[in-house]
Amino acid sequence: METESIIIRDAVETDVMSIHLLLAGYAREQLLLARPPEDILYHLANFVVAEKDGKLIACGALRDFGSSLFEVRSLAVDSCHAGKGLGSQIVGYLIERAKRKRPCRVFALTYHPALFMRLGFHRVTKELFPPKIWCDCSKCPKKDNCDEEAVLLELE
Ligand SMILES: CC(C)(COP(=O)(O)OP(=O)(O)OC[C@H]1O[C@@H](n2cnc3c(N)ncnc32)[C@H](O)[C@@H]1OP(=O)(O)O)[C@@H](O)C(=O)NCCC(=O)NCCS
Repeated sequence: METESIIIRDAVETDVMSIHLLLAGYAREQLLLARPPEDILYHLANFVVAEKDGKLIACGALRDFGSSLFEVRSLAVDSCHAGKGLGSQIVGYLIERAKRKRPCRVFALTYHPALFMRLGFHRVTKELFPPKIWCDCSKCPKKDNCDEEAVLLELE
């Protein structure tokens, strides 16, 4: 997928450190969870990235929880490129990936429900999801005070 000079593509090994650094900046602001480089490398097949002039400017990942349940996670856009639809395009790319496994459900825990709802997600209660999706929450500084919203897309 290409928009002007921005290319959205599957992540490759040489992207690992750039993904890590992009996420780390927002993790310091407690907007998402940090991902150590070895964790990103291990889950590399889940990641997509956006690249402009050879620089990684956005990323996102689709995690497979089994039972036809996927999560959009680690979504980040370099602040210099925010507000131009790139975050939405990354989520759209991940939805296309999930569609290969349809019927399935794709969810996200987010501070930006509007972005997801424009793409067809709807708000749901967090209690809808099985306990296994909360395994990473123990690493979150807001674990006892989670203010993210849950959104869900059902792909028939
Ligand atoms: C959240 C985040 C990924 C959004 O990325 P983004 O590229 O700015 O997302 P989009 O541009 O698709 O949408 C953001 C806004 O831009 C607007 N927008 C969308 N397409 C646009 C376009 N073509 N031109 C101008 N504005 C556009 C949208 O209206 C949207 O506003 P709203 O959501 O308040 O209604 C990014 O801000 C980010 O990395 N935040 C920090 C990390 C974070 O919070 N990650 C977790 C996300 S779940």
